[in-house]
Amino acid sequence: MALSNGTNKIKTAVFISGNGSNLKSLIKFSRLKKSPISIDLIISNNPRAKGLNYGKFYKIKRKIFNFKDRNIAEKKIILEIKKNKIKLICLAGFMKIISKNFIKKFKGKILNVHPSLLPKYKGINTHERAIKNNEKYSGCTIHLVTSKLDSGKIILQKKVKINKSDTTKKLAKKILIQEHKLYPKAIMKIFNL
Ligand code: GRF
Repeated sequence: MALSNGTNKIKTAVFISGNGSNLKSLIKFSRLKKSPISIDLIISNNPRAKGLNYGKFYKIKRKIFNFKDRNIAEKKIILEIKKNKIKLICLAGFMKIISKNFIKKFKGKILNVHPSLLPKYKGINTHERAIKNNEKYSGCTIHLVTSKLDSGKIILQKKVKINKSDTTKKLAKKILIQEHKLYPKAIMKIFNL
């Protein structure tokens, strides 16, 4: 991906469903001078998502869409994205599966963070499964989103050691800390920075 020019940052939307700790780290990153992106829109399917509070705190536009009818929700999101001239979408703990059509429209422009070393442990309950299988390592992945779940091109990965004493919760916490560092790094990478 190339930067349009040296001064304007790439307008970015972050999609969240829950705590939004990755959103917070992305907002902080976006405000650094070296960051190629600005965060201009936060989308959530969940009106109670805690992460929405970060949007409020940092005065970023927030929009909530009910995914009961995904088609309608996505149509509204596309309008919002166009209106705000969004050029990059970062999924960050967004728990809805987006349609093939939507992905096609923004081909190569949607990133996701997944809490495992893909292609291992796609889908949910990643930490539980990694521990159960006695894996020595797990980690996190930033990848491009394609219509196949958790299968797009891998941008960056970070390995995290699983200790014998790690519970699902402990491991999730350790990996989350790495996610916060990896997402900004991956964004720098896609812009060749
Ligand atoms: C992260 O572990 C992410 O990898 C997964 O959901 C979690 C979201 O955490 N997809 P948060 O909402 O960013 O705190």
